[in-house]
Amino acid sequence: MLPGPVGLGLRASISYRAAVENTANDEWVDVGAAEALRERPLQQVTAGRLKLALSYQDGSFAAISGVCNHVGGPLGEGTLHGEYIACPWHGWKFHRQTGAGEPGYEADQVPTHEVKVEQGRVLVRRAPSTPRRKAPHAKHALERSLEREPGPPRVVGISTTNMNSELPRYSTSDALLDSALARARAAGHETRLLRLRDLSFRNCEGYYSKSAHACTWPCSITQMDAQDQMDQVYDALVFWADVVVVATPIRWGVASALYFKMAERLNCVQNQLTLRDRVMIRNKVASFIITGGQDNVQGVAGQALTFFSELGFSFPQFPYIAHSRGWSAEDMENNVRLVQHSTGLHEAARALMDRSLALSQHLLGSSESETVRAGRKASGAPAPAADE
Ligand code: FES
Repeated sequence: MLPGPVGLGLRASISYRAAVENTANDEWVDVGAAEALRERPLQQVTAGRLKLALSYQDGSFAAISGVCNHVGGPLGEGTLHGEYIACPWHGWKFHRQTGAGEPGYEADQVPTHEVKVEQGRVLVRRAPSTPRRKAPHAKHALERSLEREPGPPRVVGISTTNMNSELPRYSTSDALLDSALARARAAGHETRLLRLRDLSFRNCEGYYSKSAHACTWPCSITQMDAQDQMDQVYDALVFWADVVVVATPIRWGVASALYFKMAERLNCVQNQLTLRDRVMIRNKVASFIITGGQDNVQGVAGQALTFFSELGFSFPQFPYIAHSRGWSAEDMENNVRLVQHSTGLHEAARALMDRSLALSQHLLGSSESETVRAGRKASGAPAPAADE
């Protein structure tokens, strides 16, 4: 007599009490009543560490491992595309009966399990009939070691203001960023300028919101989409640069939309700390240039400082410079003229660069400190368990 399933309901994952028939080498697991399981074309079922994607199509059940070959997504919570199960995390597809990857990716294969129906119950053989096979995938360029290339501090400026490149305008934040970068070059440092408006990159698609493990390094979008140019920002921030100067306008009291588009895509950098205790940003300096029409310099600075500190950046004393005309000023033409001709603001941008470089030199010359986790929220999210 086999026990009935526990917690069988409408949720994607079903918990149940594993029933054992025969000996360990020939073990069949009761995954529930056939009548109920026929109601859904695909579901994730678990028995202890065994996770299965159970599908029902054209009058027959099939079971493959519920753990995706990519980074362990729950295949049974995905969707059926014809005979293929698409992983809910990043869309890898596996045949519901053979476990083979979609055409062109057949060498990637998840284990299959025998299924039978007896006395109205669905039974799955615990031991897989076919093994898991992972095809070798070429490493992404961003998967390299975090070792710093030798040389004096390198500086990247990130412009986050948007504009029509066919109708360019004077940007106060860009102008001050130019002054800061020119100072670094004059002092013999290599610089790069990344204008987010010139990069074509997708918005974050919220893989983290499915599971911390679905937000990968390199970013899931970067891995999927060779055209996505956020890799230039990752490369500069994580590998190349020692000093990052972010320039943003103030838009309705907050940083620019492009700033936030970039920030959301940087979740994968911070998430490595959460998942693997892997500090991607070490001994690097961030500073900020904030200019705006009306107000809220401190609000923008507060957000930026919090966010970049979570990534692991250090800050020089007085880590931002800023300019705004105040609440009642709507005369942007005067604002532009003011910044263009202000020796004080451009000198402040150069001084910000001097402070940033001085801190960078100090950090690069000091011995590396270990990250102290106590008190931080990052505590190592458990990885998806491999199936048996
Ligand atoms: S596609 Fe399945 S975990 Fe990424």
